[in-house]
Amino acid sequence: MTAPKAVTAVAGTNIALVKYWGKRDAALNLPAAGSLSLTLDRLGTRTTVAFDDGDRDRFVLDGAPAGDAATARVSAFLDRVRARAALARRALVQSENSVPTAAGLASSASGFAALALAATRAAGLELPAPELSALARIGSGSAARSIFGGFVEMARGESADGSDAIARAMPEGDGWEVRLCVAITAVGPKAIGSTAAMTHTARTSPFYDAWLAGVPGDLAAARAAIAARHLPALGAVVERSALRMHAAALAADPAIIYWNAATLAAMDCVHTLRARGTAVFFTIDAGPHVKALCRAADADAVAEALRAVPGVIDCLVAAPGPGARVVEAPGR
Ligand code: PMV
Repeated sequence: MTAPKAVTAVAGTNIALVKYWGKRDAALNLPAAGSLSLTLDRLGTRTTVAFDDGDRDRFVLDGAPAGDAATARVSAFLDRVRARAALARRALVQSENSVPTAAGLASSASGFAALALAATRAAGLELPAPELSALARIGSGSAARSIFGGFVEMARGESADGSDAIARAMPEGDGWEVRLCVAITAVGPKAIGSTAAMTHTARTSPFYDAWLAGVPGDLAAARAAIAARHLPALGAVVERSALRMHAAALAADPAIIYWNAATLAAMDCVHTLRARGTAVFFTIDAGPHVKALCRAADADAVAEALRAVPGVIDCLVAAPGPGARVVEAPGR
């Protein structure tokens, strides 16, 4: 028996500025359209993987054994790593989230990015970043983006095997001092997970095709705004992408409604701040929280205003952060 080699990796979550909502292949998590995001510095996941002589995979999340469904999802992901590394051993996976798990705060993005990196290294593989991105995508579509730091674009890809459905860093955005103020409007897990919600939207929403048709134009506009560092131009894309994604989900049958009263009040707060002259724009993911994009210099005032909104529990300010990285490994 060889001693288990534990590898620890960390990844920041990312928030989509142009949303991913819909799959062209469910098994490989291939997106129906591209997306564009910002990786964050302070919300993320730290994961340690060690392959050992256990008879099954164990998954410890935030200090407690995870439930069967979460463990099965991690185990299925490890099967792909084992197949690539020609490894039979089971693993102990220990993860800590600095975001509330499954609350619509994108814990699966940082979770599967950190897991992809830690598990491949613990299995003796050293994958280039694009391959790591494709692997992370199989765990969660948005995780492909958290392999990279800062502004990131995810490609829809054309191939059936998903090798080109990968993310890439956008260095043209490096050093742009923007912030995302994350207004938390509820506790506990979201009502419906993103995969089930996307499938239901695609099957039943009359707005789904229109939503997808608009994404390439939004991506082009977002790319141009980032290259020009033009926050109002980027913000206009950010709000319309989020609202059109939610419009498609709201029009599903039965409807998918992620918002609560505080979500709407926070959206109104952002519009009021903007009417008074602050460049601030919201986005909302598969949950009730509101994320406000603004300049670093305005972030404290925006966060303070959002904290004063009835129903907002707290508001965290996050900056652009680095991509997934190994922090502890044997011989480091
Ligand atoms: O990565 P998933 O399957 O959890 O889907 C993410 C969906 C959204 O967060 C709503 C949008 C996005 O692009 O991150």
